Amino acid sequence: MRDDSQASTSIWMATANTPSQSQLRESIRTDVCIIGAGMAGLSTAYLLGREGRSVVVLDDGAIGGGMTGRTTAHLTNAYDDRYVEIEKVHGAEAARLTAQSHTAAIHKVSEIVSREKIDCDFEWLDGFLFAQSADDVQLLDDELAAAHRAGLLEVEKVSRAPLESFDTGVALRFPRQAQFHPLEYLTGLTQAILRDGGRIFGATHAGKIEGGKSARIETSHGPVVSSDVVVVATNTPVNDRVAIHTKQAPYVTYVIGIQVPKDSVTRALYWDTGDPYHYVRLQSEAEYDVLIVGGEDHRTGQANDGNERHARLEQWTRERFPQAREVQFRWSGQVMEPADGLAFIGRNPLDDDNVYIATGDSGQGMTHGTIAGMLLTDLIQDRKNSWEDVYSPSRVRLRAVPEYASENINVAEQYADYVTAGDIKSESELKPGEGAIMREGVSKIAVHRDEAGAVHKLSAVCPHLGCVVSWNSAERTWDCPCHGSRFSAEGGVYQGPANSDLSPD
Ligand SMILES: Cc1cc2nc3c(=O)[nH]c(=O)nc-3n(C[C@H](O)[C@H](O)[C@H](O)COP(=O)(O)OP(=O)(O)OC[C@H]3O[C@@H](n4cnc5c(N)ncnc54)[C@H](O)[C@@H]3O)c2cc1C
Ligand code: FES
Repeated sequence: MRDDSQASTSIWMATANTPSQSQLRESIRTDVCIIGAGMAGLSTAYLLGREGRSVVVLDDGAIGGGMTGRTTAHLTNAYDDRYVEIEKVHGAEAARLTAQSHTAAIHKVSEIVSREKIDCDFEWLDGFLFAQSADDVQLLDDELAAAHRAGLLEVEKVSRAPLESFDTGVALRFPRQAQFHPLEYLTGLTQAILRDGGRIFGATHAGKIEGGKSARIETSHGPVVSSDVVVVATNTPVNDRVAIHTKQAPYVTYVIGIQVPKDSVTRALYWDTGDPYHYVRLQSEAEYDVLIVGGEDHRTGQANDGNERHARLEQWTRERFPQAREVQFRWSGQVMEPADGLAFIGRNPLDDDNVYIATGDSGQGMTHGTIAGMLLTDLIQDRKNSWEDVYSPSRVRLRAVPEYASENINVAEQYADYVTAGDIKSESELKPGEGAIMREGVSKIAVHRDEAGAVHKLSAVCPHLGCVVSWNSAERTWDCPCHGSRFSAEGGVYQGPANSDLSPD
């Protein structure tokens, strides 16, 4: 399968056959309506269905056609944003609950894989965090101590990660991490949800989303879903205009899949301490292994050099894994970085009590999506859950974090694009397959020349809060530099917070 917007294909999209779901044809009623058939939405649908709740899942693309199809699917409790930082900002108890929840999520995935007999290459393995440079060794010591305080007592310092081709220097070993094929996992969840009476609709865009007593979701082609509860699991909430989007920042991250001889790299998860950091794992094919290496992140819409970033990833890999052969996959995707390091899972701020969101995954959406399933199921079923406060989307602790101010200053600076010149003066400068921003009078126009040579012009103004979009030549998308809305070359929205297309010029 492939999604319908970005140009690249991930290893998962090339090797999975997720079941396609028909479009919603008539208005229906359900207990819980979930928008988004990715890791968060389907985990929530599955767990609620197991408790006997009737669920409806709507997605405007394919199952896993969002970022879950573009992930690298490390399942880990080695925290991306570091336990040291979580402890500093949120306190020791929050760090402990963070570690506990990610550990529980890995176990929950393992339990579901066994119960549902999902054939998704699920595998327990160690994870190794190593220093990018000698300067970062102290960071490892600090993180080791913080991980122990957070309850991960089995994390240990080792003299190097188990890689023969290069010496990583000292590393932290996180035992009992895991990996899987994310789309095969979603396929298994889908079958289980349908078996339990859930309904899943594809090609169904949720337009207007209203909570309250008569909660309803209006689809863009007409039918309405009425429900008691709404869960917006669209990776970044499309029902929230401002509250959440000032608290997280969108980053594009790049991945290559490079062939290596079978068993020539020790099976484990690997991360370095760079900023942005590299993340590494293996996926086995019949004749060879694919070494999957990611990194080179940048703020969405603020760089257009994907090919160079993929080339740098390849160089980094070849320097460390000289046995690497041909690059088989190059892809990218977007992650949402919460300013204070914790995801936002719970009731949507400034909304009715029966509207929930799950966002701010950072590079840990596999565990966060599973945590969302567990936590939202408890909240919807009116049960206490000790993770509720930690992940509360309404928490106010984050205003004290320097990233909160710097990311929002960055957003404010993007509005200056209104008065700058365009990238090109005339559409004649565009080759087939290219796009660029052009000034026409006082307006900014997003111009794309398709492979057949026809020119398409759209307003370059993002329908979310009006920033000017940028062309992403690696993925052939229009990306908004403010809060990460992304649009196909033809202007169709496929990632929020915008929930409508770019307007025709
Ligand atoms: C390159 C890359 C590597 C990563 N590596 C890891 C990793 O190793 N480990 C890890 O844990 N995480 C990783 N992540 C993060 C992780 O992949 C994501 O956080 C996670 O997949 C998000 O899942 P989701 O269900 O929230 O969103 P998605 O999978 O994006 O699903 C959201 C769905 O909502 C649908 N949708 C949106 N708007 C609407 C609408 N209005 N109506 C109907 N449907 C709508 C979309 O079509 C989409 O299918 C990585 C991400 C990337 C990009
Ligand atoms: S995503 Fe907010 S203005 Fe575009």
